[in-house]
Amino acid sequence: MATTADGYGMAQWQGKTALVTGASNGIGAALAGRLLREGMHVVGCARRQDRVAEVLTAADTSGQNSLAVECDVRDEKSVQKAFAAARKRFGGVDVLINNAGLGHANPLAEGKVDEWREMLDVNVLGLCICTRDALADMRARGGRGHIIHIGSMAGQRVPAGAGLYAATKHAVRALTEALRIELRENNDPIRVGEICPGFVETGFAGHYMKSEEKAREVYSRFKVLEADDVAEGVVYMLSCPEHVQVHDILLRPTEQPT
Ligand SMILES: NC(=O)c1ccc[n+]([C@@H]2O[C@H](COP(=O)([O-])OP(=O)(O)OC[C@H]3O[C@@H](n4cnc5c(N)ncnc54)[C@H](OP(=O)(O)O)[C@@H]3O)[C@@H](O)[C@H]2O)c1
Repeated sequence: MATTADGYGMAQWQGKTALVTGASNGIGAALAGRLLREGMHVVGCARRQDRVAEVLTAADTSGQNSLAVECDVRDEKSVQKAFAAARKRFGGVDVLINNAGLGHANPLAEGKVDEWREMLDVNVLGLCICTRDALADMRARGGRGHIIHIGSMAGQRVPAGAGLYAATKHAVRALTEALRIELRENNDPIRVGEICPGFVETGFAGHYMKSEEKAREVYSRFKVLEADDVAEGVVYMLSCPEHVQVHDILLRPTEQPT
């Protein structure tokens, strides 16, 4: 899509670099492919680097425009290495998609601390570490930038049984606004936004419920979102001209009742 006279379009990001966390599966994989097809360089990060490489190669056969990096967002050093790799290969990051995340259906009355800690470490602290390092990169280059968090409808209201997962996604919502305020106070030309999907067919539900069979049942109740639907929302945010900041997109399957 070309950039139009009023500044809309993905051409404004042509040849710029997006770092996508959790690019080995689901929404992150769809996003990585889509941004490559939109003409961006993409650094895909996840613990399963081989799967990230497969995802990127499918959209970038020459391998010129993408880089697969092994990264565990719970580990600060691992994140720093990923940003260093992005700087070395493409000169730095212009867009950060904080997508890596997971849930455990884990009741508050009998929750497992390891599972709570993992959700907090990935969904909240990992997102903060990546955001901090992306901002340093964007500011050092004096450029504009865009940071997009993949939140959840579980951050807009509390689904029954969502326990600590819903708390982490409420935190993501608060962090979106906190960052927007900081950026304004600093007069940064960097934008921030969040997308809150309802049910999306990915690896998420199987992991959340620890059962592929239960996940299939959830996804078959009605037509749920596809990962590409979320990617479309991200492209919409990025396509807006510099003076337009889409703060939040709530994206439910039409038939989702809650
Ligand atoms: N699917 C839904 O219904 C839904 C709804 C609302 C919001 N979301 C949000 O969407 C985001 C993406 O989830 P998804 O639905 O695409 O699920 P998914 O298919 O399970 O993918 C999750 C991704 O997160 C990565 N990840 C998990 N732990 C990580 C860690 N410690 N370090 C780096 N990467 C890590 C995984 O990569 P590795 O395992 O290779 O590290 C994988 O690429 C999450 O933030 C989730 O909360 C999903």
